[in-house]
This record gives sequence, structure tokens and C-alpha cells, in this order.
Amino acid sequence: MMGAARKAAVRLKRDYGEVEQLQVSRKGPAVFVITAAPPTEKILHAELSRARPNFGFLMEESGEEIGADPTRRWIVDPLDGTTNFLHGLPQFAISIALEENGTIIAGVIYAPITEEMFWAERGGGAHLDNRRLRVSARTDLSQSIFATGIPYMGRGDHPEFTRQLNAVMEVSAGIRRFGAAALDLAYVAAGRFDGFWESGLHAWDIAAGILLVREAGGFVSEIEGGTDMLGSGSVLAANDHLHRPLGDILLGAAA
Ligand code: IPD
Repeated sequence: MMGAARKAAVRLKRDYGEVEQLQVSRKGPAVFVITAAPPTEKILHAELSRARPNFGFLMEESGEEIGADPTRRWIVDPLDGTTNFLHGLPQFAISIALEENGTIIAGVIYAPITEEMFWAERGGGAHLDNRRLRVSARTDLSQSIFATGIPYMGRGDHPEFTRQLNAVMEVSAGIRRFGAAALDLAYVAAGRFDGFWESGLHAWDIAAGILLVREAGGFVSEIEGGTDMLGSGSVLAANDHLHRPLGDILLGAAA
């Protein structure tokens, strides 16, 4: 998984360099980005298929592919943080998860620009390169910073999100919107963010990140408290002290 991510990242990085150039060109980067993700996904598909020919796929660009072994599949986002990429912002990542009988058993999130490799194996802990990760130990909301995803034109419930934002900013040390949900979750696992919430995500944005947070000792649920994050796209991740209080604040704001 790491090898596939590193290989695909070479292509993504090259395209990113070109996007930065294209910012000043007349054509602009919008057309270009459409062509950046599919080739990256192709490389990931080829590498992962070579390693495990029988596994299926769920991929952002090409959808679902049932493998000869229907119990295992790769859940792949070749470019999480597409809008950042398009604007020449370096916060983007490749996310790969391995699902077995509906359970995520391994996950890799690789940020090509910082070259940070976040990885986790079920029962084996979460890591950043060779270092073991642990979620933050903060217990006090007033000292905590939270990441989120802000809905945009045509997406999400804007009034509800505004209420959530108001409620969390009243009690916390700050809110961040970095624009790549996979990395937001990896940063919770690394203790950089004390928590993260967002609705309307896809399985490929969050599958690897959920495992990372859990393996780093954190809690992940839907904002509403259930556990079908991959199905609903609703995610609330934090350490065990903050998960409940943050969830209560978000639910109180939604009501
Ligand atoms: C997006 C990013 C972003 C989140 C969006 C996602 P994509 O993923 O994760 O942070 O706010 O909802 O769609 O489209 O760049 O893979």
C-alpha cells in the first residue's frame, strides 16, 4: 500500500507542479485537474492489483469493482483535497484503505508534498513514518482545536453548519478548515488536531483515516452517534475525553 502510494505520488506531484504554472496561464487549472486524478488512480489500481490480484476496489474516479475475492476490497481516493490541489495549495493526499468483510484492517494516507506517510494496521497501532502515533491528551475544550469541513455551493446544510460553527467556536481554542478530510483524520491521529467533524463525506475520504484515529487511541462515530460512517459520510473523531462533549455540542446546535 505504501509502495503504491509513493509511486502514484510521483505523478501527482508532477501534475501539481504544472497546476502551479497553470495558475498564470490563460487556460487555467480547472481543465487540468480533471486529468490529474484518473492517471493517479490508474497507477494505484495497477500496483494494488499486482500485489493482490483477487481483491476488489471502491475508487473515487472509477467506482466499484467486485474482485474474485468478494470479502476484500481496496477503498481508494487518489486525490483527497482536490480543490486545494487545483488552487496550488499543498494540503492534499492519497488515501488507501483495505476492507475485509466490512471492517477496515489497514490504511495509508500519504501527503506527497510533505512526504508524510501515515499508516495503520488493525490491532497494530497507527504510525507516521516510523513513529507511533497517539491522539492528543487534552481534556479541556477551551484548550482544544478542531478541524472541520465547511459545506459549499450546492453541498450540505449551511444554516445547520453555521450553528455548529458558532457553538464550537464559543467553547474551543479554534477551528481549522484545511480542505482534505483524510489528512484531517490523520492529524487527529497524530494529536495535531484534538478533533474533527464533517458531514457529506464519501467512504474513500475517510476509510483509512478512521482506522488511523482508532489505532491511535481515539474515538470515531457519526456525528449523530451511530457507526455507519462509511455509509452516511458523517464523521466525528476525537480523543475519548473530547468525543462526547464535542458530539453533544454539535447535536445541540443541529436541533
Ligand atoms: C473533499 C475533501 C474536503 C471535504 C470535501 C471532500 P475530495 O474530498 O476531503 O476536505 O470537505 O467534502 O469532498 O473531493 O477532494 O476527494
